[in-house]
Amino acid sequence: MKNQSLAVKNIPLKHEANAWSHYWRTTPAASRGCLPDLPGVAANHLQEIWRQFFVSLPRSARLLDLGTGGGAVLTEAQAVRPDLQLSGVDYAAVLPKLDTAITLYPETRIEQLPFADGSFEVITSQFALEYGNVSAAIQEVSRVSTFEGKYLFICHHADGVIVRDNLARLKALRETLSPAGLFSTAVLALRRRKKSTPETWQRLARIFATLQRKHPDQSIVKEVAADIARIMAEPDSLEKLLALRRALEMEDQRIMALKKAALTENQARVLAEVLSAKQQALHWEVVHVPGADAPFAWRISNLSRSSLPASPGR
Ligand SMILES: C[S@@+](CC[C@H](N)C(=O)[O-])C[C@H]1O[C@@H](n2cnc3c(N)ncnc32)[C@H](O)[C@@H]1O
Repeated sequence: MKNQSLAVKNIPLKHEANAWSHYWRTTPAASRGCLPDLPGVAANHLQEIWRQFFVSLPRSARLLDLGTGGGAVLTEAQAVRPDLQLSGVDYAAVLPKLDTAITLYPETRIEQLPFADGSFEVITSQFALEYGNVSAAIQEVSRVSTFEGKYLFICHHADGVIVRDNLARLKALRETLSPAGLFSTAVLALRRRKKSTPETWQRLARIFATLQRKHPDQSIVKEVAADIARIMAEPDSLEKLLALRRALEMEDQRIMALKKAALTENQARVLAEVLSAKQQALHWEVVHVPGADAPFAWRISNLSRSSLPASPGR
């Protein structure tokens, strides 16, 4: 693909794959995938988009889900259309277990799919295609899909509510990790063997109160403070604190990857156009969730437009 605005975007990095492996190793299969905090109204809206798509698919179609993670899309597909033959790829090394009828390919990059040409009638992706090297991924999507293959890709919107909320969370997360933050203070107290002194707890309480004032809507401040307080009262506190810090650093990397992956309007248009040139015309439109003040995501598909409310697409 010639278009530079996609070609230079999103070169996947090893540490991003590790951050996702860590996430899926520690996330239960029944969770809401990579968006556990998604409000019910948004989750329902997303589910309805997928349902509309699944019911329109040919009988027993072979479907490949890119960057499947915890299999949110595949699980929904199976519930709506048990006749579909479902597979998912993801570059994370460990993925949550799914129904045995679903075939999972961990450690598999979207940019290098281990399938013969024309292996799938349907290709899907929910918040994943855009994380990869999009131009290489599109080549692979075109290669492994059949001539009249059907697509539905839900992608992050650069000005969307998911990016905005995650960046706000990241700001609070980084402050808990800052040199005078909760972590460093707790680690210092442990190293000085002062973990149970009143001064240590007073200092931690003061830092917590300041963080809460600065980030009143960020649950992460309370979560981290509660985890630290619990760990400080347990044996092997230092080791556990450092493990918690590593987990937060992984979350930092995932949010940065999300920011980098999210598509601007121009990038969403280019993606749709490039795929259209290779296959059938793709529609691209903004998904809005009722009641939300910012866009939710992009919907890019070559099946007829969603009948759900959307802003004017192309
Ligand atoms: C935001 S999560 C979405 C997971 C799932 N589709 C969902 O909706 O819950 C992004 C997923 O894409 C995977 N991923 C990112 N870049 C990838 C790449 N280049 N190749 C394969 N998988 C990738 C990550 O490991 C992660 O599981």
